[in-house]
Amino acid sequence: MGERAFYVTTPIYYPNDVPHIGHAYTTVLADVLARWHRLNGYDVFFLTGTDEHGLKLQRAAEKAGLKPKEFVDRMAPIFKDYWARLDISYDRFIRTTDEDHEEVVKEALSKLYSKGLIYKGVYRGWYCASCEKFYSEGEYEEQDGKKVCPTHKKELEWVEEETYFLKLSEYEDQVLRLVRDTDIVHPRGYAREIVSKLEREGLRDLSIARPKSRVYWGVELPFDDRYVVYVWIDALLNYVTGAGYGKDGGRFEKYWPVVHHVIGKDILWFHTAIWFAVLLMLDIPPPRRVLVHAFIINRGLKMGKSVGNVIMIDDMLERYGSADAVRYLLMRLLNLEKDVEFSFELLDSMYNSELADTYGNLVRRLGVLAKRKLGGVVRRRDLEEEFRDVAVKTVSEVSRLMEEYRISEALVRTFDLLRMANAYLNRTAPWKADDPEPPLYNALEAVRIATSLLHPVLPSVTRKVADALGFSITGVEGSDYGYTEEFRVKEAPILFKKIGSKGG
Ligand code: MSP
Repeated sequence: MGERAFYVTTPIYYPNDVPHIGHAYTTVLADVLARWHRLNGYDVFFLTGTDEHGLKLQRAAEKAGLKPKEFVDRMAPIFKDYWARLDISYDRFIRTTDEDHEEVVKEALSKLYSKGLIYKGVYRGWYCASCEKFYSEGEYEEQDGKKVCPTHKKELEWVEEETYFLKLSEYEDQVLRLVRDTDIVHPRGYAREIVSKLEREGLRDLSIARPKSRVYWGVELPFDDRYVVYVWIDALLNYVTGAGYGKDGGRFEKYWPVVHHVIGKDILWFHTAIWFAVLLMLDIPPPRRVLVHAFIINRGLKMGKSVGNVIMIDDMLERYGSADAVRYLLMRLLNLEKDVEFSFELLDSMYNSELADTYGNLVRRLGVLAKRKLGGVVRRRDLEEEFRDVAVKTVSEVSRLMEEYRISEALVRTFDLLRMANAYLNRTAPWKADDPEPPLYNALEAVRIATSLLHPVLPSVTRKVADALGFSITGVEGSDYGYTEEFRVKEAPILFKKIGSKGG
């Protein structure tokens, strides 16, 4: 088999503030996909980072009394630190202030300019600096006679200035076809949204420059040094920089065709209409996939600093005690199509019943029994046919669900296998059986398989289980039931401490 490659990206986050669990939701999802593919033999490249230019960051720096570069230099390590604490296995953390990226931005803009795709004009419109986006009539909301941004509910600013436009309108038909007639945008409901917006409003030319007199913090336009590049164009290009565009043709050819952009639904238009058009202009193929998820909401609204309903990553890490538990719970909530309401009550009960009771107790019991009854050595004996069938089916269903990005359902299926192993132990009662080896072997084999399937979500706990029970974690190809000749059980670890009701 030839080498299979997989390239996954997260949005690059604005480092104007520390990340919250909304950002963790996307990043953990991307990490789970990266780990799943690595485990199954793919050559994976996983890119995340920070989106450091533009008016929003310029203002955040001013507010902090720092130069923009000093400000982002302080903030970027905070993102890295959170991702380390959540065990995010990125291969590169890209910053839009990285030199190679700024070069790519300039090269791309020069190419667009020399192709005649950029022209000068005047822009008049209402701008939201928090979104870094202009809003047209019908898009903004009105409150007390003022025009406000529909996301941040902040008053919009009137901007009227000379700028440069990118001729997106020329690409409307091609973009429409990519969104409508291919499977790039997933789930398909999001593709339909973009198609109807394109049919309703068309694809308008985009202002891609900002005069330095207003926005000085950005990559200078290569053909007019009085301007910087619009932050969204700068930001989107991070995905090609990360793959080695213009620098390392081999890497770019390997990874670009298999790029998966994981994004929240708020930035769908940028990642389809605008991004596809820019790629077409640069003669770069469209991404393989744009994987979109809905929001985590709190009290009915998208979490946000300005709304005042954010749950911090620290809140979850403290409450559940480990990166693995937080990752698991976020992935159990994951819903691509629908917003999910955040609730500590719900998460507490999933944590206790699934992680602590089902997985934790099973591993603990098996460890204790294998040591006590068999001195820790459990050899392959009498496979239980029925049990084997369920395990085999679980592996194939979980693989399919993972390929369809239905992570929460994959977890539920895997836990069905663990629940079955618990019931099987109760039924066969190896603690009082004359010959406890067959039931212990069968239950261990189920745990081994479930543990490998859970590894992308629970990277560290699953390693602990594999060490304690004496097996190795494998991809799907090593998940044949009965594959293990002998388990050498070393210990009976406690995986998760149950938490009491803390309210909240
Ligand atoms: N800098 C741009 C992205 C540029 S990518 C070329 C940006 N940054 S952001 O910091 O605002 O992050 C937005 C992303 O964070 C969303 O698309 C989503 O992936 C994630 N989320 C932020 N809040 C969220 C929720 N409440 N729920 C789920 N995801 C959310 O936009």
